Amino acid sequence: MKPIALITGAAGLIGGYLVRTAPRWVSDWEVRGVTKAEVDLTDQRQVERLWDRHRPELVIHCAALSRTGLCEQDPAQAQLINVEATRILASLARDVPFIFLSTDQVFDGAKGQYVETDAVHPLNVYGKTKAEAEQVVLANPAHSVVRIALTAGTSPTRDRSFVEDMVRTAAKGVTLTLFTDEFRCPLPAGALVRALWEFGVQRRAGLYHLGGHERLSRWEIGELLATRFPALRTSIQPGSVADYHGPPRPPDLSMCSDTMQALLSFRLPGFRQWLAAASPDGEDPWDYSSSLTR
Ligand SMILES: NC(=O)c1ccc[n+]([C@@H]2O[C@H](COP(=O)([O-])OP(=O)(O)OC[C@H]3O[C@@H](n4cnc5c(N)ncnc54)[C@H](OP(=O)(O)O)[C@@H]3O)[C@@H](O)[C@H]2O)c1
Repeated sequence: MKPIALITGAAGLIGGYLVRTAPRWVSDWEVRGVTKAEVDLTDQRQVERLWDRHRPELVIHCAALSRTGLCEQDPAQAQLINVEATRILASLARDVPFIFLSTDQVFDGAKGQYVETDAVHPLNVYGKTKAEAEQVVLANPAHSVVRIALTAGTSPTRDRSFVEDMVRTAAKGVTLTLFTDEFRCPLPAGALVRALWEFGVQRRAGLYHLGGHERLSRWEIGELLATRFPALRTSIQPGSVADYHGPPRPPDLSMCSDTMQALLSFRLPGFRQWLAAASPDGEDPWDYSSSLTR
């Protein structure tokens, strides 16, 4: 009998990739994805039944209220899903490895190139709930938190990744202003989930950063994407955070992923390198990574 890995948020961007790529990366595991339609993770009874049904030996918890705007609109719901559902699941998983996906948004972006020992200081509700949930998870010394960066991919619902958001907005004829002075370390979903699988089966505990090795501005990311998505070519323009008026935005959320990198069999790619290597004819430019080497 194969050990069972449970993936929450399986209808979402990253959970979807984890389930789809499992036969490639962890064929000796039986991977079961659970969606919100099947189980509401904020309902303790439902989660207990889920636990009894699967008895997993590994949990990768991807379910979340992941959109920063929705978290601002409904902080109570963000707290319920991002913190309380995590608490319920982590408690049931007390004796098995449990991986919680957190975010670079736990930082305020003033410093950049964040390492795991840097102090958190979230600016938005999403980041605050994630930072709180991290503490809940790390209270169990067998559990782990992986802070991931902006992830490019094709979601099951085609409306989750930042790339999908940009292409959809451009298709409506809206011009996107991309900041030349806001930085991220984007990572393609294919590489992200390969790393998560390699990490997951090692049963390691603690706090890790996982992003691409290239620090890029939003504008540079947009220019690179425009080489792949023609709709973006005439729909993006450069701008500066200095001219932006709205809720606070963390300017530099670049992360150092060296600790995670040391555990992996392949080199975490930069965004530029990935796009240059991805086949132009491939169905999903974000979903290959077998050719990545150290
Ligand atoms: N994608 C990124 O760029 C990125 C970057 C940093 C961190 N992360 C983190 O990585 C994780 C996965 O992100 P993602 O991009 O895959 O997010 P996503 O596409 O929004 O997927 C999250 C999934 O969680 C489900 N969910 C929400 N509330 C639930 C509930 N009460 N019970 C059960 N399921 C529920 C959602 O279902 P519904 O759609 O039906 O609500 C959705 O399918 C999240 O923790 C996110 O915060 C993502």
